[in-house]
Amino acid sequence: MATPDQARQEVSGLHARLAEHNYRYYVLDDPVVPDAEYDRLFRRLQELEAQYPELKTQDSPTARVGDVPLSGFASVSHEVPMLSLANAMDDDEARSFDQRLMQLLEVDQIEYNVEPKLDGLAISILYEQGKLVRAATRGDGTTGEDVTQNVRTIASIPLTLRGDACPRILEVRGEIFMPKAGFNALNQKQKEKGEKTFANPRNAAAGSLRQLDPRITAARPLDMFFYAAGRVEGVELAATQSERLAQLRDWGLKTCPDIDVAMGIDACIAYKEHIGQRRDTLPYDIDGVVYKVNSIELQQTAGSVSRAPRWAIAHKFPPQEEMTVVNAIDVQVGRTGAITPVARLEPVFVGGVTVTNATLHNKAEIERLDVRVGDSVIVRRAGDVIPEIVSVYKQRRPDNAAAYAFPTHCPVCDSEVVFDDGGAIGRCSGGLFCQAQRKESIKHFASRKALDIEGLGDRLVEILVDEGLIEDVGDLYSLRKEQVAKLERMADKSAGNLIDAIDASRETTLPRFLFALGIPQVGESTAAALAQHFGTLDRIESASLEDLQIVDDIGPIVADNIHTFFDQAHNREIIARLVGAGLNWPQIEARRDDLPLAGKIIVLTGTLSGMSRSNAKAALQERGAKVTGSVSKKTDYLVAGEKPGSKVDKAEQLGVTVLDEQGLQTLLGDE
Ligand code: IVH
Repeated sequence: MATPDQARQEVSGLHARLAEHNYRYYVLDDPVVPDAEYDRLFRRLQELEAQYPELKTQDSPTARVGDVPLSGFASVSHEVPMLSLANAMDDDEARSFDQRLMQLLEVDQIEYNVEPKLDGLAISILYEQGKLVRAATRGDGTTGEDVTQNVRTIASIPLTLRGDACPRILEVRGEIFMPKAGFNALNQKQKEKGEKTFANPRNAAAGSLRQLDPRITAARPLDMFFYAAGRVEGVELAATQSERLAQLRDWGLKTCPDIDVAMGIDACIAYKEHIGQRRDTLPYDIDGVVYKVNSIELQQTAGSVSRAPRWAIAHKFPPQEEMTVVNAIDVQVGRTGAITPVARLEPVFVGGVTVTNATLHNKAEIERLDVRVGDSVIVRRAGDVIPEIVSVYKQRRPDNAAAYAFPTHCPVCDSEVVFDDGGAIGRCSGGLFCQAQRKESIKHFASRKALDIEGLGDRLVEILVDEGLIEDVGDLYSLRKEQVAKLERMADKSAGNLIDAIDASRETTLPRFLFALGIPQVGESTAAALAQHFGTLDRIESASLEDLQIVDDIGPIVADNIHTFFDQAHNREIIARLVGAGLNWPQIEARRDDLPLAGKIIVLTGTLSGMSRSNAKAALQERGAKVTGSVSKKTDYLVAGEKPGSKVDKAEQLGVTVLDEQGLQTLLGDE
């Protein structure tokens, strides 16, 4: 335990740090530490204040949450204070909350209303005679900011309440947030415009709401769930939280669809587990769940302590963001030569696992973050997503930290690095000369969705190449058991199994084989479409750029990748070796040349009156036609409905037959 003097010093340090973080978080909407770090400092201060009550001052951050409003918005005082919630960091803390409450209320089981803890901003909205007259942020709980203009722009918030039974005065609270999909789209747009992106949906929501220009807010995808009534006049509110939420819904106010009622703490914890499993697929961000005593009468009996009600608790999920230090920045060379920088981190427990690496994506991302070796960074790991660096805490940057210099030559084969996408993405120009690219192409070839060679994992591929036993996928089929058995951690049996698995992979399918070749941007579905369309490898190899683009979903760029791949002598040579080694696949069912429209290429444009465009497309395809999106010399017919647009001009220029709807019916043979 700290001595009184040590405690005094520590408390004053914590005051300063928390005040700084509060300012960044509440006033500037630009926090520099993850919530978990803030929570830890806050809890430490609470702990010291509990040990030494004389150190608890009026201006302690534990006595008040948030900070002064920005000068640009008018202040609003909350007649009914906007409380905050105490936290439970694990199941034990949630259970002791329930225990304390049962004692206090003298009951042996409590019914809770259980709700997701939304990660947005708390807002109070005032309706008078059913009309929205004012909206205010929570601020410090007593005084917030008037954001009425901005809140009016949010589509899901009614400007007028529904029904005749709505109260004379209704002050309602809830959370404004940015749905994940909208957040991703917004960041994408910001990137394209070269503007600042947001670290997470909460920051984006806060930044969007606190705009002095409401037109900016209006363009942002904000949403709101209501969760409580504040001041109410002229109507009797229901006796439980769950029924009150139903009342809010009746008045047209949106509530969270994932709320439930749970009897006893075990049911609450089961709810938390269930929501936790669904967390990644929920359309909005949450950082825990909230348990609220359902009976309002019991809530009143329990009452509140300084900043939080005794009748509710936020049961938090383990944090998804943490702070750590970058020990090194390495680069990895991928199958197609793309050079991906990776940050090697001081191990940190985040999102439920220990994280030691975070992807830095590409050169542009390193420049955007300006991340350097030695930097303190905020790392985020959400769900199954690869850990990422969200931001750099520049205040803690060591004096000697130098800006990162992206390699100009491949670290593996020393070939020159070339940049595409406006300099954002670096690529090793060594092709299959580069050992890293060769290794990656072999790993891909053996992977589950490609030739699925059991036992030939990434590590073994590395060893086989490093030991000089194979150079490319063409060498796999001449590997001998004795060679493999000599390798480290290999025995006779495992070597035999590997050779058997390689043997077995000779029997494959054309789509798998095409996918396994690792042609840039040819994934499983494109490989399948190619196989289906052309039927044989020969036809694909000799297809022209135009032929390739007739295949569904193949545009000019992918067509070019495929064409270039088969154009290269060393690729053709490897394919010949594979086929020579006995790789084979069943014949793809030949194209149905007997269908009435077999081989015809048709484009649809404009609005059809007799059937939808997708039905017309399906009907044409059933009869063997290929329906494509743009008119070219190869097009046989352009079917033009109402308001057809420029495709008709193009067809006429190219001498392509243009049909009307009547002509389509004739083609379909329905006339
Ligand atoms: S109730 C009387 N319910 O959490 C309790 N708050 O730490 C007042 N929050 O400021 C809040 N989801 O921004 C409540 N379902 C929920 C919530 C929720 C998120 C936020 C809210 C509040 C903070 C309290």
